[in-house]
Amino acid sequence: MSKEPIYILAIESSCDDTAAAVLKDECVLSNLVARQSIHEEFGGVVPELASRAHQQNIVPVVEMALRKAGVDKSKLHAIAFTQGPGLMGSLLVGSSFAKSFAMALKIPLIAVNHMQAHILAHFIDEVGFDKPTFPFLALTISGGHTQIVKVNDFFDMEIIGETTDDAVGEAFDKTAKILGFPYPGGPLIDQFAKEGNPKAYAFTKPKVEGLNFSFSGLKTQILYFIQKNVAFHPNFIEENKADICASVQNVIIQILMDKLKLAVAQTGINQIAIGGGVSANTGIRKTLKEAEEKYGWKTYIPKFEYTTDNAAMIGIVGYQKYLKQHFESASVVSKARIEF
Ligand code: KG4
Ligand code: ZN
Repeated sequence: MSKEPIYILAIESSCDDTAAAVLKDECVLSNLVARQSIHEEFGGVVPELASRAHQQNIVPVVEMALRKAGVDKSKLHAIAFTQGPGLMGSLLVGSSFAKSFAMALKIPLIAVNHMQAHILAHFIDEVGFDKPTFPFLALTISGGHTQIVKVNDFFDMEIIGETTDDAVGEAFDKTAKILGFPYPGGPLIDQFAKEGNPKAYAFTKPKVEGLNFSFSGLKTQILYFIQKNVAFHPNFIEENKADICASVQNVIIQILMDKLKLAVAQTGINQIAIGGGVSANTGIRKTLKEAEEKYGWKTYIPKFEYTTDNAAMIGIVGYQKYLKQHFESASVVSKARIEF
């Protein structure tokens, strides 16, 4: 007799995207994101506005996720939500909604760590995508994080390297701001880089011990480089946009690859999985794919929709926790900062 499937509703609201997903075991039935365009006008996420937009969006997004999945709420086995890390006001909207919904339906509540979810997104069932085997190394690169994590098991993870200042997503977004692009500029740098020469301009890589990263010096270096050139040639950015983007992206990829090579050498693990919004970057995806042949690594690159913030990744962690009956009481609290 086949076992009864588990249906999980997942909510993600850690930053500026309100997301809901419905999973049937490890399969995603629906995965919706309401993006908040309001922040573009301010060149970054405004926490107060993000919380308000979450409040407006959460009910319709959840209703739509259930409808799209064709699952009635009475069939749900549990509600999973992002506990942290993230913006407190944003997290509170998701957690309060999840608590109320779970209490009304009399089903368990599951708290999920957003960064673990970026890593475990690789365990979603997807045709054409392999799942990593333990242990593997995860490179989590987002607007708030840059980490190399040794993943021993679903909930046994160890951060072996991380940024000492800015996250890699900030390096992309701050460079984009210097170039006059709207927020978040990471995807635009990626787009322009495709037409440019990655060796047009040389930027120096920061010297950071071990497996840690630093991106704030690079940002300053780029700022001075642009200011100096614009002073002599006011159209410098406009005329060299593609080459500037390709060169900046190239140095960022080199920094990430140097540390990954060191991590592989130190741990003896050559399975690499990437996660987080910046892993949507075409250059990073291509370089990692090439590393399979070049260094004999096995690399795992998630489906595009599971890279930037989404609720399907919260749902897959929810499913794993459901199997372990790892539930929370209604007094569970949101955490702006949270380790593994
Ligand atoms: O994981 P995420 O959606 O949100 C956070 O938890 O931070 O990551 C957002 C970050 C932003 O910095 C955005 O510019 C960056 O991911 N990003 C990209 C690309 N797509 C998103 N950076 C470079 N290339 C991309 N294609
Ligand atoms: Zn994220």
